[in-house]
Amino acid sequence: MSEQSNNKNSTQIPSGYEFSQKHLLGLANYSAEDIQYVLDQAVSFREILDRPVPKVPTLRDKTIVNLFYENSTRTRLSFELAQRRMGADVVNFTSGISSAKKGESLKDTIRNISSMKIDMVVVRHESPGVAHFLTQCVDAAILNAGDGAHEHPTQALLDMFTIQQVHGSVRSAKIAIVGDITHSRVVRSNIIGLKKLGAEVVLCGPKTLIPKFINQMGVEVSYNLDECLQWCDIAMALRIQLERQDRGTKFFPSMREYHENFGIKLSHLNRFPNFKIMHPGPINRGVEMESEVADHERAIILDQVSNGVAVRMAILYLLSGGTRI
Ligand code: CP
Repeated sequence: MSEQSNNKNSTQIPSGYEFSQKHLLGLANYSAEDIQYVLDQAVSFREILDRPVPKVPTLRDKTIVNLFYENSTRTRLSFELAQRRMGADVVNFTSGISSAKKGESLKDTIRNISSMKIDMVVVRHESPGVAHFLTQCVDAAILNAGDGAHEHPTQALLDMFTIQQVHGSVRSAKIAIVGDITHSRVVRSNIIGLKKLGAEVVLCGPKTLIPKFINQMGVEVSYNLDECLQWCDIAMALRIQLERQDRGTKFFPSMREYHENFGIKLSHLNRFPNFKIMHPGPINRGVEMESEVADHERAIILDQVSNGVAVRMAILYLLSGGTRI
């Protein structure tokens, strides 16, 4: 693997810097300083979450709607916990039991909800661009909780926070991202954020699951899992998106063959003693990694989940007008 960066310091926030973002639609619109600033604020929220009473009243006068058109466990619960721990009024919308089932459009849904006076919207949707579309429909701050295969910015922020926790800084960290690169919104946000903060990124997976010109995003591509695991500080395994395999396209011959070539195994942990394992979840045990690997002490997957609450508190705080916790 070639050297992509050798400066080991974290991104510095210049004096006079002000966080001026109104929304979080993706990390493409955020500068390195914006990203680092969110991570810096999240350190304070992480400390608050470790207190006996992990609550602060910073969003006491805010009303937030969580608008989920796609399934979610981690992102949805994490956002809701973050909002409640900051004292916000929280409304949950689930498309499956809403008037969307009677044919109501997204625009009408959001305009109706907006007329009930809301300050922020967290949205997950299967279509790329939905978060951006909502900024044109309502005045509230919009946070993208995953839009199709486009971006999942809070996942990447919590991933970078976790990398910073175990590696000291994101800059100079060697990250191997392994799996279904083509269909992943997590990888897109991570590549954008990790490169802005100066990490080295190598993508690994079957050729059919790696887009042709992805190296234009400043990453390298490898088809050799052993080489990647020997090189990296952190292996971030991505979910094989089974629901997309059902559309009739075969991206690899079988799950068994995928696991054989690209699954992380206990034998890798023994042979390569340095790397840690991340996964955004949900995990397909026995596919992306052996079950014992997911539960291994070198897996920091549940740290990612815990950190997600602090990171989401930080971005909610900043987008509600907070400056420095
Ligand atoms: N990582 C992630 O987005 O998980 P959920 O789909 O459960 O929210």
